[in-house]
Amino acid sequence: MTSTGGMPNSFDMNQADLLDPELAELVTRRSRVLGAGYRLFYDEPVQVVRGEGVHLFDELGRDYLDAYNNVPCVGHCHPYVANAIATQARTLNTNTRYLDARILDYSERLLATHGNGLTNVMYTCTGSEATDLALRIARYATGAEGIVVTSNAYHGVTAAAAAVSPSLGSGSPLGEDVRTVSAPALGASAEEVGARLAADVRAAIDDLAQQGIRFAAFLADSIFSSDGLCPDPAGFLRPVGEVVRSAGGLYIADEVQSGFARTGEAMWGYQRHGLHPDLVTMGKPMGNGIPIAAVAMRPQLVEEFGREVRYFNTFGGNSVSIAAATAVLDVIETDALMENALSVGGFVRDGLADLSVGRSYLEGVRGAGLYLGVDLVDPDTQQPDGELARRIVNDLRRRRVLISATGPEGHTLKIRPPLPFSREDGDRLLGELEQVLLAVDAGRPAARGSR
Ligand SMILES: Cc1ncc(COP(=O)(O)O)c(C=O)c1O
Repeated sequence: MTSTGGMPNSFDMNQADLLDPELAELVTRRSRVLGAGYRLFYDEPVQVVRGEGVHLFDELGRDYLDAYNNVPCVGHCHPYVANAIATQARTLNTNTRYLDARILDYSERLLATHGNGLTNVMYTCTGSEATDLALRIARYATGAEGIVVTSNAYHGVTAAAAAVSPSLGSGSPLGEDVRTVSAPALGASAEEVGARLAADVRAAIDDLAQQGIRFAAFLADSIFSSDGLCPDPAGFLRPVGEVVRSAGGLYIADEVQSGFARTGEAMWGYQRHGLHPDLVTMGKPMGNGIPIAAVAMRPQLVEEFGREVRYFNTFGGNSVSIAAATAVLDVIETDALMENALSVGGFVRDGLADLSVGRSYLEGVRGAGLYLGVDLVDPDTQQPDGELARRIVNDLRRRRVLISATGPEGHTLKIRPPLPFSREDGDRLLGELEQVLLAVDAGRPAARGSR
């Protein structure tokens, strides 16, 4: 039995004996202490001891170009954010049951980035908790239970979030009131993709109704990361919003991946689609590594829910996490990171497109801002080639460039660096990738020039 548990790019514990003895000892000890639920990345796991900007450093002081991590969105250990955290930790760190203007200042600023009538926000510690809370509110407000998600969605680890996360696999069954639809198609017009997705959502709502389950909400990651990355064409989500509303349900936009300027075109992924969600979940990059997540919503929703249900989350929205989140917004604005994501993201996407010329096993270059993907396929059958993606990810890792893979078949390279990623960083990534691809080409004499 493999011990990778179906996650793309995870280390196989059965291979631990092949590692350098010191690394093997650490990996085995980790597995003994943390148990079987945890996964490591890469065939040769990376031990990191320090981070700075878009770089991670190992115990020997070697630098790795981080082209993968979105949590440190303004860069690893950003001094301004670290100072804000330390200053606040030395001053006060308490919970939301005391008056403090700083959480209100932050909330007003955060909500202003949404607009759209989303005038209330509630805080959690993780994206999973945000999913959980959004589902509770949606079900409370509609008095219905049915939820529709995409077929390889991931929305978190609480019982309720796992029940709407098909990517966790058959060991983690979906709820009986959950239906899935195929991920948005790639390579068609916004009208076609939107019409197909909207029709699928309509059919899923009908299917729920046939089982006597009323529809509460459609929940989707606005960039469909675990479904294999479907950013374009922007606008395809709008018809789905209309179907959801006409069926009396709510639209929950999961911005844990696509939020906080990642796509370069807007602060929030749903805004690229001209969508008006009822609830929005946020997390990961929000505190640059300090646990803070949130749900933004229309005021009626919190009125209905809050009247009957008391809400307190001990650590959610505590003083230090709010200081971190405030500092993150400061850096995104002052360092113009959204603009950087757009321009450097475009530069890397063009570079990927150049590398795909004449390589019929590399196709579907896509991305929005600094969230980029490209598929590995069998050139003859066009079938996904997850093994090749795994090889490329690991070859890059050996060259000290960190990316990963995603999608149901694990055949999509996933490139999602911290937002200060520069053109020089992009050059290093593309240069190393070219070297890796040349080695792949060498094993496939006909690959280049056979488009
Ligand atoms: C789209 C999406 N939603 C929710 C979550 C859950 O967030 P967390 O790991 O903070 O609980 C994740 C985490 O990867 C995610 O990618």
